[in-house]
Amino acid sequence: MAKPFLSIERLTQQFPDGTGGTLTVFENATFGVEKGEFVCILGHSGCGKSTIMNILAGLAEPTSGVVKMDGTHVSGPSLDRGVVFQNYSLLPWLSALKNVTFGVSARYRDWSKAEVEAHARKYLAQVGLEGDVVHRKPSQLSGGMRQRVSIARAFANQPKLLLLDEPFGALDALTRGTIQEELVKVWSQTEQTVFMITHDIDEAILLADRILLMTNGPQARVAESVEITIPRPRNRTEIVEHPNYYAIRNHLVQFLGQRSKDLAGQPSHGDDQTPEVVRIDKTAPSDADAEVEHAAPSLRAVNE
Ligand SMILES: Nc1ncnc2c1ncn2[C@@H]1O[C@H](COP(=O)(O)OP(=O)(O)OP(=O)(O)O)[C@@H](O)[C@H]1O
Ligand SMILES: [Mg+2]
Repeated sequence: MAKPFLSIERLTQQFPDGTGGTLTVFENATFGVEKGEFVCILGHSGCGKSTIMNILAGLAEPTSGVVKMDGTHVSGPSLDRGVVFQNYSLLPWLSALKNVTFGVSARYRDWSKAEVEAHARKYLAQVGLEGDVVHRKPSQLSGGMRQRVSIARAFANQPKLLLLDEPFGALDALTRGTIQEELVKVWSQTEQTVFMITHDIDEAILLADRILLMTNGPQARVAESVEITIPRPRNRTEIVEHPNYYAIRNHLVQFLGQRSKDLAGQPSHGDDQTPEVVRIDKTAPSDADAEVEHAAPSLRAVNE
């Protein structure tokens, strides 16, 4: 089998612990993400999710291990990798539109001003920002609107990989719901690969093809890769009716409530730490007794 689009190989991150010792956040983490996949990562605060994401973005160097995207070593930031943070991080002196065109014109240097603007407006419209509102500065926008601009900006640059660090954490539930749907809409119209951190189990089930579960730190592990066996398009009111919904949800709750602690703090002893693949499918006729199937021990092709 070919290597996955994004390949995380024996990633280890250590920091000074502040008392002269070493904090090992994670060790030899090894997993892959396929092209076009939407992957969410769930885990308790401090386990190392943002650390992984910053390494994938090229914003931080790991202590050891490599990340390869399309076979190329990730090192330093690149327009091929777009990042959306929880706190919007828009340029405050530019309008919503200019926040988007800024990146687009840097990426597509041969485009005319009109082409850049039309492209930016298309992505802003996809997240519901049209008309005069695009000329407002971030301080004149609501939190939800600012996050929409961040998402439009990231997608408009058409990165190969989009990294989202709790993008909806600061939003109220209603706004969150609307923007989640907009995010899926934009994603489904592109071939972009999304890696998203969230604390919200329901959000992860709604959005993801696959959820990576991390144990508590230090020495955290990406312990499981849970397939979301619910067909798309999904919508928040109907998804709960699907026979797999609560089975998957219960599995995730159980992991975060108990197994994330039980499995915590185990040294890797030099082995690759690959997540166990978990496929839960209550609709599979021949599999009525095996509601939770722990499949092959390692993720696709990472070791091949
Ligand atoms: N630059 C740094 N120097 C020292 N320790 C760090 C540094 N960055 C992160 N850490 C530590 O690494 C661990 C993982 O941090 P990280 O921010 O990745 O967690 P997280 O899973 O994103 O948590 P949260 O859900 O709260 O955002 C924490 O113990 C944190 O204190
Ligand atoms: Mg974080």
